[in-house]
Amino acid sequence: MNTIIKNTSLLLIAAIFFSCSSSDDSTETPPDPDTNPNPNKITTYDADVKAIIDDQCLRCHTIPLAEGAPFAMRNYAETINGVNRDLVLRVESNGVNVMPPEGRLPQSTIDIILDWEADGFKEK
Ligand code: HEC
Repeated sequence: MNTIIKNTSLLLIAAIFFSCSSSDDSTETPPDPDTNPNPNKITTYDADVKAIIDDQCLRCHTIPLAEGAPFAMRNYAETINGVNRDLVLRVESNGVNVMPPEGRLPQSTIDIILDWEADGFKEK
């Protein structure tokens, strides 16, 4: 009798535990509103980002590579290579690794890059 009660309470505890953990899974944290600065617009490389890269990055990130820059960003494919090398973190950085090296871009420009990220780094 005692073992039956013990086993039943163990089952109960297990049931409570699993119901709690599954309800945790359903309470996903809502997306951070800051990660999509412009939800009403689809930002693309061709329309929005290329001009920023050309202006702010190509001085070094071109062929031939200049001032020690380790890769080029002359077109979409090369810029996606930059994305895979932490482009977004580098432009957002408040530290010494910020890109461009002379200092952080205006927040409105950084927001265009964050919006491009939120929209899936589209080309067109
Ligand atoms: C004055 C030259 C210069 C400019 C302008 C410049 N970069 Fe760089 N970049 C470098 C150098 C040098 C490095 C390598 C040293 C380092 O990682 O900080 C680098 C590294 C990087 C890296 C990391 C690469 C890796 O694999 O470690 C990224 C990403 C990057 N730059 C993106 C950018 C973007 C985006 C811009 C424009 C918004 C930009 N850079 C503008 C010189 C420049």
